[in-house]
Amino acid sequence: MLGSFDKIAFLYDWVEQRILKDHQGSVHILQTYLDVEKDDIIIDLGGGTGYVARYLATQAKQVLLIDPSKNLLSKGKKSPVHPVRGSATKIPCNSSSVSIIVLISVLHHIPKTYHEQVLSECKRVLDKHGVLCIIEAIPPESLLQKLFIHIEHVLVGKTFHRHPNELRNEVKKTGFQSVEAIFPKDHDWKYVIKAID
Ligand SMILES: C[S@@+](CC[C@H](N)C(=O)[O-])C[C@H]1O[C@@H](n2cnc3c(N)ncnc32)[C@H](O)[C@@H]1O
Repeated sequence: MLGSFDKIAFLYDWVEQRILKDHQGSVHILQTYLDVEKDDIIIDLGGGTGYVARYLATQAKQVLLIDPSKNLLSKGKKSPVHPVRGSATKIPCNSSSVSIIVLISVLHHIPKTYHEQVLSECKRVLDKHGVLCIIEAIPPESLLQKLFIHIEHVLVGKTFHRHPNELRNEVKKTGFQSVEAIFPKDHDWKYVIKAID
């Protein structure tokens, strides 16, 4: 499960930013749907090379970039982001210690049997009224999307997509107070689950 992105780290930013425009898309979604305050402490969980973490660092007090891939993280070593090697299944942070966790295009790379553990870990680490913001891809339907997923399987291993309602229910089960599914305009194949503790 861990470290499967290490072998493609050299290509990662180029593909995400030049071909897929995924990083810019994620920042746009966060700007639209996530309120960030100057004193927030944020975890970008599975944050890869830290593009989104560096944007969040311009808005918040502190941003931790947590990822199991040594090679992706080594590209994220730019102040003021703090890179930490670790897994979403056991977040290396104290309970009730952060105000926001973002989990962007990560959950579908973790087998479904671990999703409950990941969500419980997020709940443990968030403080009261903390916000979990998950951005995920809608499960592939068209031939083109299925081809993309096939290429992803070859490059980084099997993926485990969930439908928005299914994931929203899974997050609710973890005990978050308010959980909503959002379908962002201009990002047809993505959805957001925003949960408040
Ligand atoms: C598609 S990339 C997304 C990276 C980043 N969030 C972004 O938007 O660019 C998936 C990320 O999930 C990370 N990942 C895989 N398994 C993980 C786990 N168990 N815990 C945390 N991150 C994990 C990978 O190392 C990789 O950085």
